[in-house]
Amino acid sequence: MNILIQGGNILTMESEEIQVGDIGIVDDRIAFIGRDETFVPDKVISADDCIVMPGLVNAHTHSAMTLLRNYADDLLFWDWLEGTILPIEDKLTGEDVYLGAKLAIAEMIRSGITTFADMYMFMDDVARAVEETGIRANLSQGITGQGEEGIEKIEESLSFYHKWNGSNDGLIRVDFAPHAPYTCDDAYIGHIMDTIKGLDTRIHTHLSESRDEVKRSLELHGTTPIAHMRDLGLFEFPTYAAHCVHLTDEDIEILKQNNVSVINNPGSNFKIANGFAPVKKLLQAGVNVSVATDGAASNNNLNMFEEMNLAALANKAVEEDATTVPAYTALSMGTINGARALGLETQIGTLAVGKKADIIIIDLSKPHFYPRFNLISSLIYSAQAGDVKTVLCNGQVLMQDYELLTMNEKEVLTEADLAAARFKNR
Ligand code: NI
Repeated sequence: MNILIQGGNILTMESEEIQVGDIGIVDDRIAFIGRDETFVPDKVISADDCIVMPGLVNAHTHSAMTLLRNYADDLLFWDWLEGTILPIEDKLTGEDVYLGAKLAIAEMIRSGITTFADMYMFMDDVARAVEETGIRANLSQGITGQGEEGIEKIEESLSFYHKWNGSNDGLIRVDFAPHAPYTCDDAYIGHIMDTIKGLDTRIHTHLSESRDEVKRSLELHGTTPIAHMRDLGLFEFPTYAAHCVHLTDEDIEILKQNNVSVINNPGSNFKIANGFAPVKKLLQAGVNVSVATDGAASNNNLNMFEEMNLAALANKAVEEDATTVPAYTALSMGTINGARALGLETQIGTLAVGKKADIIIIDLSKPHFYPRFNLISSLIYSAQAGDVKTVLCNGQVLMQDYELLTMNEKEVLTEADLAAARFKNR
């Protein structure tokens, strides 16, 4: 199918330049950017008075935690995680996770997200939701274990990999997710590394999220979580690590040396009061930093415009330096840097001929977009998720003129609500 996106302000994210023109799509790929009078479209989407840019990459979330949205708030971190969230998660079924993932995908498409990295349980059910809705995702089963205990989860992850990696026309990738150094002991990490040798996959994990986690690691191993994972050899596999809030200068050097991508989750870190990742230092060191929402139980939404805004604002405030994380850097964190973290930078993250057609169209006909001094600034400092009007992923239109096309949204909302009522009483 040939689709023409006509007459938008195109921000390719290959540079800061904005050009007015068209984008031609043939099947799943971008065929041209600019003008081509010979192109014969089957479908025309007007981008008049809109920005056309790459779909956003939410590089760390737990999608089905939408079901726990606003269930446990304003608690201390360990009370939140171990006292409240983990016990209720034990009651979730595969069907709950499927419905929660559908809810998350609806919300993410509405916020301009075309790719997300998910770490959770019942991942077959998440994959089913991803496949049905046409979004792109790196999926991983979050696993925890001590020695041989929990080893069956590594086997499950491996079966999940063989079943889904590269499926749905390559939209689904499968990664491996040792949940965190404090939930996986050294032997367990060793088993994971033995299992994934030679596979086309990545490691998705949480590192140095809280001050307490770093303290526990220093007591147990005499090193920080990041130095410890390096010592175990985990970073010999391509790795993207959520949080990285409490870092030493040596940690930053290790992340850079080992090409580990950092996923900044400012909304979640602020809400659980874990602090601020040293994004300025990480960027200066040349570490690939992207941005993500984390789960909806610690955010409490999956709004990447809010997250990019927070990434810019928080770092300015913390550093007392308004030049830190300028708008274009924040946009790069939400697009190409996320793609790089997930190993997808040759396919998505910027708009270029031959790349996959993961494209969002943002409606500028709102009061907060006037006047028009600087459209890049407007995307970070003024735009709202609700300004995303049309979304394409892999050349398929997922939302057009604010209407979700690959799911019955009303049904998804109702079903999620019913699921929440059921597991609460289980
Ligand atoms: Ni997380």
